[in-house]
Amino acid sequence: MITGMIKVKTMDFSDKRVSYAKGVLDEASAPHNPIELLEYWMQEAVEQQVPEPYAISLATCGNDRMPAVRTVLMREITASGIVFYTNYQSAKGDDIAQNPLAEGLFFWHEMQRQIRVRGHVAKISRAKTEAYFQKRPYESQIGAWVSQPQSGEVASRDAMDATFAQLKQQYPPNKSVPTPDFWGGYELTIAEIEFWQGRPNRLHDRLLYRQNMSQNTQSSKLQGTLQDTLQDNLQDNLQGNLQDKGHNNPQQQWTLTRLLP
Ligand SMILES: Cc1cc2nc3c(=O)[nH]c(=O)nc-3n(C[C@H](O)[C@H](O)[C@H](O)COP(=O)(O)O)c2cc1C
Repeated sequence: MITGMIKVKTMDFSDKRVSYAKGVLDEASAPHNPIELLEYWMQEAVEQQVPEPYAISLATCGNDRMPAVRTVLMREITASGIVFYTNYQSAKGDDIAQNPLAEGLFFWHEMQRQIRVRGHVAKISRAKTEAYFQKRPYESQIGAWVSQPQSGEVASRDAMDATFAQLKQQYPPNKSVPTPDFWGGYELTIAEIEFWQGRPNRLHDRLLYRQNMSQNTQSSKLQGTLQDTLQDNLQDNLQGNLQDKGHNNPQQQWTLTRLLP
């Protein structure tokens, strides 16, 4: 228990400096398709033993217009984005239902790197969710049932432990635990992704990939905001034709820009 042991005082970090000199990121070595770079950097982070490099800070914003951020574990990189699993009836689930646009950030201090991804979020198929849930350890499966609704109030730790014990009786370990219908995966389809590599003198390398506007948008406007692009891609997603369009021809799908640090 730390109550009473620490006195509140101000803290000053203004003299703390770290020189960033662990790597370089340049256009020449950047692939046309940023998902390849995402996978390459993720692989390097795993090799360098960054703890849980697939943990991502996920920011959402619902109708209350108040951004909310929390960590989730990315479980898969797909051809078009990233997948994570959560409770659909959580604060993030409510935000996504109200506004399906989100941004996520990986930060790997050891490598002086961050990756920012932004795009449209949608539930993955039920079959895929169930396959993943059935792979989870038994007690995590039970834990998912306890968190209902996730971020709802609970009277005490004891009350939570009692629910856990009761659910273990209801779903004994020798039988398969059903996948809660309020729980599952989301895929964030990447419309924009920025790779950031720390460099000396604050002159960091920042490469931004933006998904090119869909044919529909190009014919109707010369320039579009990210919001337009995301909305158009959402339309395309709904029409089911996004998958067919870009990945066979990645050179046309992404625009690469260097940003000032
Ligand atoms: C390292 C780490 C990994 C986490 N992974 C997940 C996850 O994969 N899914 C999830 O729902 N919550 C995860 N959480 C908990 C969330 O950060 C958060 O507390 C919870 O999802 C409720 O968020 P919400 O009320 O904003 O929806 C993780 C937390 C940490 C610190």
